[in-house]
Amino acid sequence: MGDPVAHSRSPVIHRLFAQQTGQEMQYELLHVAPEKLEEAVRQFQRTGGKGLNITVPHKRAVCRLVDHLGERASTAGAVNTLTFRDDGIHGDNTDGIGLVRDLVVNLGLNLEGANILILGAGGATRGIVAPLLEPGPQRICIANRTLRRAEDLVERFASRGPVGACGFDAVPVTEPYDLLINATSAIHGGETPPYPGDAISPRTFCYDLSYSVHPTPFCQWAREHGAAQAVMGWGMLVEQAAESFHIWRGVRPDTQPVLQRISISA
Ligand code: ATR
Repeated sequence: MGDPVAHSRSPVIHRLFAQQTGQEMQYELLHVAPEKLEEAVRQFQRTGGKGLNITVPHKRAVCRLVDHLGERASTAGAVNTLTFRDDGIHGDNTDGIGLVRDLVVNLGLNLEGANILILGAGGATRGIVAPLLEPGPQRICIANRTLRRAEDLVERFASRGPVGACGFDAVPVTEPYDLLINATSAIHGGETPPYPGDAISPRTFCYDLSYSVHPTPFCQWAREHGAAQAVMGWGMLVEQAAESFHIWRGVRPDTQPVLQRISISA
């Protein structure tokens, strides 16, 4: 369920997972406007639906419909996976673990001791800060156009590890960043914000949570500024889907062939 949702690749990904693991399932897109969210979730539940992915802009609003909020979802304050069980609706968040699996397992990054910069302080950032702190980075700095929002996230996550906040024009660059993540939604407005070019060194791995058929503006910008690599979020998309699939069906699909199919067909 999302708004908009027509562009989503999730039905293809889950169809490939189901084929691969021999699961019988039907996964479809439901376009739901914000004011219809509760009605749509209740109707899905009444008609025997077993699981839902929730996407933009409903990830925070859906929390109030959940009976059992998992730790990852309550830490993020956002839900992307609902499971309908006899004891009610369970809410989880697989975005952060999806990103970390893509970075560590698929792309081979070592996050322990890494110096990380996240651009953006919205819903996407809320979902990834705690999972990124788990491997023990040296520090995560959150830079945002609106400083106050980055500071709010620092307050939220400070007890979990070393996090700091700044504006785009005041990013500390005394030490090179190992990982620079774009978590802004600027791509939807068709703009390239004044990202901090100084933050990129030849060893900086750049990752865009957005994905597109063509290199995103952030990836183009990162390459122009000499980043070691610039990667779009196809891997995160497939990995968060695999985690949801595992929650629903108890089987973990092999993500590699699906990631290849998806990014080639992109
Ligand atoms: P999402 O759930 O996708 O994170 P969001 O909660 O609305 O969406 O957050 C969007 C993020 O992208 C915010 O960090 C926003 O910056 P502000 O907090 O200053 O609004 C950022 N963003 C969106 N468009 C942007 C732009 N053109 N330039 C810079 N930052 C932008």
